[in-house]
This record gives sequence, structure tokens and C-alpha cells, in this order.
Amino acid sequence: MHEMLAGENVFVTYHSNPIVAKDSFQLDITDRSQVEKVFRDVSPGVIIHTAAFTNVDGCESQKEKARMVNAEGARNVAIEAKKYGAKLVYISTDYVFDGHKGMYKEGDVTNPINHYGLTKLQGEQAVVDVCDDFIIARTSVLYGRGRKNFTTWIIDELKNRKELTIVTDQFVSPTLNTDLSHQIIALIEADAAGIYHTAGAERISRFDFAQKVAEGFELDPDLIVPYASERMNWLAKRPMDSSLDVSKVSKVRKPLRVHEAIKTLRGEMS
Ligand SMILES: NC(=O)c1ccc[n+]([C@@H]2O[C@H](COP(=O)([O-])OP(=O)(O)OC[C@H]3O[C@@H](n4cnc5c(N)ncnc54)[C@H](OP(=O)(O)O)[C@@H]3O)[C@@H](O)[C@H]2O)c1
Repeated sequence: MHEMLAGENVFVTYHSNPIVAKDSFQLDITDRSQVEKVFRDVSPGVIIHTAAFTNVDGCESQKEKARMVNAEGARNVAIEAKKYGAKLVYISTDYVFDGHKGMYKEGDVTNPINHYGLTKLQGEQAVVDVCDDFIIARTSVLYGRGRKNFTTWIIDELKNRKELTIVTDQFVSPTLNTDLSHQIIALIEADAAGIYHTAGAERISRFDFAQKVAEGFELDPDLIVPYASERMNWLAKRPMDSSLDVSKVSKVRKPLRVHEAIKTLRGEMS
């Protein structure tokens, strides 16, 4: 995202892992006074609020931490955004839905089935309650170059010729991080407001997605073993079909289809 905003004054914050960048600030969003100080120093026009406690099972076992970071942290940022008349983009999740229906539209009823989804939804509500100018950008299974994620894990395991088990019965809208950045920047440039589903263009099972990753990276798809989610030892429940309908954002910026995104990622990684 940073590179895509060339020409703009961009400031980034980090929590526990220092970012080596000129305009970076250490920030714990659960601490009101720290949030106030960063806003005083930067006086931003637009905030892209990505910080969250994202470990889905961790949120189930550490409910208070999840509430503090995902709900109260978002409220702290929203209060300052409102004070400075800035636009707030809050990155939210497909896990605000229960997964019974799939291909969710922005107006569909939310009904989280785990604590991560519940606290991210509370974060959304804080933004709606406090801010006049906001975008809630719900996304799904983020992946990209850099830090380990679902897709880089698949690529690494297949390159090392390791077998991996992946669920066949969970449907999502995998999203390349740079595609998400393009969607968000397009929405900001269009001065859009409200809720948007900003995700990959296709609903796909995690298993089929892994097969497409293997294909796109010319790795052996036979190493991917189909698995049923009921056999997974997860602490938190996962929605069965949390895929997102992206027709609203498509009017501003068309999200990539799975094969386009994987091809783009391969280019970015080479
Ligand atoms: N990954 C996905 O598949 C996915 C899907 C849908 C939506 N999302 C949403 O997209 C956003 C980004 O997700 P991600 O996967 O990139 O998450 P991530 O890798 O877990 O990064 C979250 C960031 O938030 C920071 N953070 C945690 N607690 C904080 C605090 N108290 N104060 C300030 N920063 C704090 C973390 O820093 P430390 O590590 O130093 O604590 C980390 O840098 C999140 O809002 C998430 O809910 C993600």
C-alpha cells in the first residue's frame, strides 16, 4: 500500500515489531493517550485502520484482549478520526457472518459465530457510531508476498514436497493483499463511504484454492490431501461459507479472479 501512495504523505504505525521506515510510529491502539498523541503529531486526512488481534482461536481463549484490541482499539481510532475530520477506513472481515448462506452482500444480516468475528463487528459498530466519514472494508483470507499466510504456507510446503491437508467444505473469497490495496485506494479516490466487500472476485473452497495455487506455481497438486473441517481441532467455530459478493466495489475497481491474483502474486514474488 505504501508504494501505491507515492506522492502522498504516508505515516505507518507498528505495535511490537518495529518497522524500519522514516515516518513510522510505535502505537498500541488500546491506549487512548498514545492514539491521541499520534493523531496530534500526524494530523491525518485518511486513516487505514488494519491493526487487530487476528488469531481466531486466540480470540476465543483471550476474550478480553480481543475486545480491547478489536472493539475498543477501533473506537479509540474512530474518536480521533472524528475529532480531526478525517476519513476512516476500517478493515473488517467475512467472519462477521455465520456462513450459512455465502456470497454475502453489504446489507446482509451479520451474525458472528466466534469471538474474533464478534469483536471485529463491535469494531465496525464503533466506527459507525462515532464517525461521519468512514469506509468499512470487509475482506477474506488475505494473502501475499512477505509474512507467512495461507498461500505462502501452501507454496513453501509444496516446494519442500510435503503433504498438506486442506478442508474441502469451507468456502471463502481469497484476497491478494495488493489487490485489496488497489480496491481501497480506488474507494478513497472516489470518496466512497459506507460498507464495501473488498475481496477476491471468486467464491472457492480452501482445497480448490490450494489446487489453483499449486497449478499457478507449477507445483505438485497431488500433495494436497482433502480434509473435512469437522476433523480439524479448532477451538473457535469457523463459518462454512463466508464468501463475499463484490459487485458493489466492482463499480469502482474490479477485484481480481483467482487465477489472475495467483499470476500477479507469482510476478510479485519473482
Ligand atoms: N488475514 C486474513 O485472512 C484476514 C481476513 C479478513 C480480514 N482481515 C483483517 O485485515 C486486517 C489485517 O489482517 P492481517 O492478517 O494483516 O493481520 P496480522 O498479520 O495479524 O496483523 C495485525 C497487526 O495488528 C497489530 N496489532 C495487534 N494488536 C495491536 C495493538 N494493541 N495496537 C496496535 N497494533 C496492534 C499487530 O502487531 P503485533 O503483531 O506487533 O502485535 C499486527 O501488526 C485485520 O483488521 C483483520 O481483522 C484479515
